[in-house]
Amino acid sequence: MDKKVVIISASLRKDSNSEQLAKAFAQGAERAENEIEFISLSGKKMGFCTGCLSCQKTFRCYMQDDAAVIAEKIKNADVVVFATPIYYYGISGQLKTLLDRCNPIFPQEYRFRDVYLLMAAADDNPHTTDKVISSLAGWVECFPRCRLAGTVFAGGVTAPGDIKNHMALKEAFDAGMHI
Ligand SMILES: Cc1cc2nc3c(=O)[nH]c(=O)nc-3n(C[C@H](O)[C@H](O)[C@H](O)COP(=O)(O)O)c2cc1C
Repeated sequence: MDKKVVIISASLRKDSNSEQLAKAFAQGAERAENEIEFISLSGKKMGFCTGCLSCQKTFRCYMQDDAAVIAEKIKNADVVVFATPIYYYGISGQLKTLLDRCNPIFPQEYRFRDVYLLMAAADDNPHTTDKVISSLAGWVECFPRCRLAGTVFAGGVTAPGDIKNHMALKEAFDAGMHI
């Protein structure tokens, strides 16, 4: 209750499956009376990290685009939720770009303690998520006061909207309820 929850939906397509997971999580977290901020990366301006490392001294990126704004919101949340389509058995490029752009947070105090990963893919094999989870786990390990608190996977969904009636929607709702 009363946690500040930032939910990032990384899919750029309409009627996205992973976005439905993100919305279900948001509904659960809202039901439990938390404060939700829902951010879609669709339409956002996000430059690639150029590796200059100036942010390690200035605590801000020289590129003041949408990624810089979102990184600041992540820094100040209690709970951060990333929802992504699985691309080539990893996280989507747009989510990776955002994670890299969180580099200004690295030398700073940050508030987030729990991170959740919600994923959608065509493949329904339970091992589909192995490399996806480990790619986010590397980022989480770099922020030692936070942990990967939970994951939800919707497999067997390919076309937009395929996730309708998928049991992972309830799992996402329940995860949101119990943050
Ligand atoms: C570039 C690209 C790569 C993909 N790679 C995989 C993959 O490695 N494994 C898989 O099961 N599905 C893969 N898919 C299918 C998507 O994960 C699937 O369509 C998913 O439902 C998309 O989620 P979204 O609706 O939230 O965008 C890929 C799709 C695209 C466009």
